[in-house]
Amino acid sequence: MVTSEAIQRTKKQPIRTCGINPNHWYVVAKSVEVKNEPVSVTLWKEKIVLYRDNANKIWALEDSCPHRRVKLSEGQVVANTLECAYHGWRFDERGNCVAIPYLQDKQKIPHCQVKSYPVQEHDGFIWLFLGDENPDTVPPMRIPEWEHLNYIASVATIDCRGHFSFLIENIMDMHHGHLHDDYQAWASAKLINIEESEQRVDAYYEAQSYYKIDKIWSISQLFFPSLRQLHPDPLTVRYIYPHWTSTLGDDFKLYCLFCPIDETHTRAYLLHFTSLNAFWRLHKLPIPFRRFIKNRLFGAANGFLAGLVKQDVKMIEQEQEAYLAHPERKCYELNRAIASVQRLIQTQAANPQHPRP
Ligand code: FES
Ligand SMILES: [Fe+2]
Repeated sequence: MVTSEAIQRTKKQPIRTCGINPNHWYVVAKSVEVKNEPVSVTLWKEKIVLYRDNANKIWALEDSCPHRRVKLSEGQVVANTLECAYHGWRFDERGNCVAIPYLQDKQKIPHCQVKSYPVQEHDGFIWLFLGDENPDTVPPMRIPEWEHLNYIASVATIDCRGHFSFLIENIMDMHHGHLHDDYQAWASAKLINIEESEQRVDAYYEAQSYYKIDKIWSISQLFFPSLRQLHPDPLTVRYIYPHWTSTLGDDFKLYCLFCPIDETHTRAYLLHFTSLNAFWRLHKLPIPFRRFIKNRLFGAANGFLAGLVKQDVKMIEQEQEAYLAHPERKCYELNRAIASVQRLIQTQAANPQHPRP
């Protein structure tokens, strides 16, 4: 439970405009989205440029040239430095200005520095730490299924005009299966229990599921309702601030990796993993062949995810619009998990220097 001391420290911001705790690792891009050119991203109102050096290592700088404040992401990578498009000043990976093409003999490079951010690349994504705390003390979420040969991944990008609280509430409230009809892998979710701390909310549901991957054709259940047979399965959703993960039975796993842009705009990546654990014969095949299968099937459920996302985004954007039109109006809530989620968002925003568990 959230301790009374934490509640006392908490100066609650209104939930629909609540800020983020910057002292976490946020996902700002897929690895494949950053190639040779600089890429501009935004994380909670901060404009950031990502680029790769000659060794393929990712770096992140404030997307603003100190000379005239144009975007560095308009420039290019030259000899491991980021070169501004306007007058060609160059910055190293720490943001130091290291070259100016028209510097004259007696002139010195001004002592200007671009802000740099801790950044990591793992599990298919680029993770960035915005805050001032030591990033080494805050482990990023890990996605072991990304590399694991027994899991097939699919990914959808969520881009919605809504505060991130609307999105996390959407995916913590399993009663909204009503919206998805044929897309949803479960039905009749009932909330059984909630566990809550200053770092996370775990909500345990019991649901009826048709999802069981034990035959080679099992994946087709996603697309053909007539093939489905319902059985009871535990459905667990976890808000491990600032990201989310969910399991349904043994074969179905989801993640949602957050990149809140500002109070009314959220980006996130929704990942779906289908397990091949039941196919024991497959596990005896040579590893290169298993990797080939994993890569060939990558994205098999992209259409399924995109369908879910489209329906959810439509609802979330309507919630945001309704809030902006009448922020004073109250909503009615029956799911206890939503109050826990809101408490966690507000506690994290008010106490960014939380000691880690
Ligand atoms: S504005 Fe960047 S070099 Fe002049
Ligand atoms: Fe949904």
